[in-house]
Amino acid sequence: MSGCFITLEGTEGAGKSSAVPIIRNLLEQAGQRVVVTREPGGTPLAEAIRGVLLADHGEPMPAMSELLLMFAARASHLRDCIEPALAAGAWVICDRFTDASYAYQGAARGLGSDAVATLEQLVQGERRPDRVLWFDLPVEVGIERVNGRGASNRFDRELQAFHEQVRQAYAARAEADPDRYRRVDAAAPSEAVADQIRRLIGALL
Ligand code: TYD
Repeated sequence: MSGCFITLEGTEGAGKSSAVPIIRNLLEQAGQRVVVTREPGGTPLAEAIRGVLLADHGEPMPAMSELLLMFAARASHLRDCIEPALAAGAWVICDRFTDASYAYQGAARGLGSDAVATLEQLVQGERRPDRVLWFDLPVEVGIERVNGRGASNRFDRELQAFHEQVRQAYAARAEADPDRYRRVDAAAPSEAVADQIRRLIGALL
């Protein structure tokens, strides 16, 4: 039996990382095998590409290079991690996936959704997440949380307007496909967020 593919999305500082162990525990307690992974990354090759994507290179990275590198990493991640895990019946919990390409490269970088959709079709075929958990909170709250962490990458350092576009793109995608997307109120206190996650994962089991 094929497993279930769940992705976590949201703007910076939305608390996806804190959600991962909660989801893993819920699924393991229910007797499921779980593979936790992330994008960009998830295989040695994709993690190397992640390093290129997040680093500064002394010149602005063209948006198209960014998009193609995201999908170059994704092709490896799908072939060598996600697809084998799903085929073996595991639940795959992935911290970001192609919705992030639509939101960051398609919307905020201005490449448009057609470019992303073309690569999605090419790289993924019919593969889509079974459920997308969208961690939503006001952009300024997320930025404040991320600033408190110290280390930042190229994306964290973008201006608030960029992250607002990312948030709007997630909102539009969630609205367009309510069967696949579930919004988590990520501005809520952490125990309330955990309750929402328990409810949403419980509904899948
Ligand atoms: P990371 O530090 O993992 O961010 P976060 O903890 O917020 O997930 O950095 C990954 C960055 O890559 C993040 O800012 C979003 C960005 N990204 C894209 O722009 N496009 C994509 O397709 C993916 C998967 C990520």
